[in-house]
Amino acid sequence: MALSEDFLNELRLRCDIETIISQYVVLKKRGRSITGLCPFHSEKTPSFHVSSDKQLFYCFGCGTGGDVITFIMKIENLSYIEAVEFLAAKVGLEVPQNNVDDKVSKLKGRILEINRETAKFFYKALNAPQGAEALSYLKNRKLDDKTITRFGLGFAPNSWDSLVKHLKKKGFSEYEMVAAQVAIKSRKDNLIDFFRNRVMFPIIDLRGNVVAFGGRKLSEQDNGPKYLNSPETPVFQKNRVLYAMNFAKTSQYSDTLSKNGRDRYFILCEGYMDVIALHQAGFDNAVAPLGTALTENQVNIMSKYVPGVVIATDSDEAGQKAAKRSFELIDKAGLGTKILKLRDAKDPDEYIKKFGAERFGMLLNDSISAIENELEAIMKKYDTDTDSGKVQALKEASKALAGINNAIERDVYISRLSQKLSVSSQAIAQNVNNIIRQRQNSIKRQERANLSVNVSPKDTVNVQKRKLLSAAVCEEWILGSLFCHPDFYKILKNEQIDSSSFVTDWGKKMFSIIENVVTSSDTLDLMSLSGVLSPDEMSRMAEVITKDGSRINTSEQFSELIESLKKEKRKQSISGDSIKMLDDQSLKNLIEEISKDKK
Ligand code: CTP
Ligand code: MN
Repeated sequence: MALSEDFLNELRLRCDIETIISQYVVLKKRGRSITGLCPFHSEKTPSFHVSSDKQLFYCFGCGTGGDVITFIMKIENLSYIEAVEFLAAKVGLEVPQNNVDDKVSKLKGRILEINRETAKFFYKALNAPQGAEALSYLKNRKLDDKTITRFGLGFAPNSWDSLVKHLKKKGFSEYEMVAAQVAIKSRKDNLIDFFRNRVMFPIIDLRGNVVAFGGRKLSEQDNGPKYLNSPETPVFQKNRVLYAMNFAKTSQYSDTLSKNGRDRYFILCEGYMDVIALHQAGFDNAVAPLGTALTENQVNIMSKYVPGVVIATDSDEAGQKAAKRSFELIDKAGLGTKILKLRDAKDPDEYIKKFGAERFGMLLNDSISAIENELEAIMKKYDTDTDSGKVQALKEASKALAGINNAIERDVYISRLSQKLSVSSQAIAQNVNNIIRQRQNSIKRQERANLSVNVSPKDTVNVQKRKLLSAAVCEEWILGSLFCHPDFYKILKNEQIDSSSFVTDWGKKMFSIIENVVTSSDTLDLMSLSGVLSPDEMSRMAEVITKDGSRINTSEQFSELIESLKKEKRKQSISGDSIKMLDDQSLKNLIEEISKDKK
């Protein structure tokens, strides 16, 4: 998708990268260098760099980089065009409509209109006579009017096509209704409502759009699954949405016991009703995935708002399994996380009903780390009054303890365990240390094995880089220097360099894209490329410009680079691309065959 040069220039002028990024990251300025803690990976010392001159960012820690649009795409989880629209709205610019991929974006807009109209329709139905049963269902579940309105809860009437008829009257086409997944074709080819006779939960994204629905049946006797959710649509990707995140993102609920004073955090539940019950009880930081396991995308979204998450899944076995999985995912992303232990209730909703909000608040305060949770489960599993039970429990607990990275923390749990099982802590510690050593050895073995297989890790941006290393590096230097000194382009032309002079396919592609920009506009910066390159390619270009671009400062040095590229190219034509590209085994086979021929 190409934006007009005029529009891009306007966006460039108004969206200074330092100003925009400083709304998300605390930046420190020292001389020309601007640094901060990277928002894309967890770190304690800043390796995230912003360059005002080049209008780019690059993290030396995780390798993420790009222009201001790439930054917004990553931090706000948006597509390229969405990020452009987001930035434009921020600075009061209008994105020229003919530039937007017209059909798709129009359909998206229509779907959002349908969803809003549908939510209104369901809400009205809940409060009409036909919704009496649904309303009393919600009242029985102790939801008050304020909560029902806040969450926009509704009722899908018990009829085949009342919504379809309503939307038709409002001017929506059948095609649009099906695209929004609020209607489906019946077996007789009639268009019918997707949700029928259900309590409806609209699902709202971070920008306040209704993107989908969840519907719960009113009684066990009704047909179909307990909850029915909208399938994915052009405006709804399940794995990127969390229920009630539109409210929770601004919740001020915080952890008064945290070490650094007050940290905001989210409570991660399993279901719609848990989230709603918690919000009604004052915990407006509760969110939930949409009936599926937590995803990495959802964790990333949470990490943009809070430093920690308390997991409050159901107390049954499935819920505990989910808790462990979520814990690992959240922990991996660098967020703090704890697991809440529900006692005498199956889920947060039931707990609040039985014991009240205050008791739930107390539970939150002593929610425990995953390791405590795991140790508790192990102790329950075995009869530790018998010797054999004790041995079994110790074996399993030692494995769990060996997974704790912090030695002090490990010690604390070892001494607790020693008291509980009346076994000396030295004995347990020895056991645990043995396991740690075994694991380390096996990791080392694995690493050595990997090392002998491939010399350097695979490069996903330039897949030929591993095999054609010196050529690929030379190309990167040329591309990087070109960005820092666009006037070097003249030298390339004088030397009759074009894309076919490059060796790797990625080098060829990048050069022709850059050449296109250089010859058609006055500005060469990363923003000119962000509509064409993938985010990974943007990161690579930011890296190349930051690391390699500054190495070459004179035209003499640049000419030398060109000579090297020519040499690399000749090397390739002699050895032949085809042979170079073979993997080691095929190469061996080929050599064997050639030598056979000679005999
Ligand atoms: N879910 C679903 N489809 C189902 C059952 C559950 O999508 N057939 C999802 C819903 O998002 C639900 C969550 O999984 O909110 C948790 O399911 P469950 O624990 O069964 O529901 P509760 O939240 O306990 O619902 P309720 O209290 O209404 O029984
Ligand atoms: Mn429940």
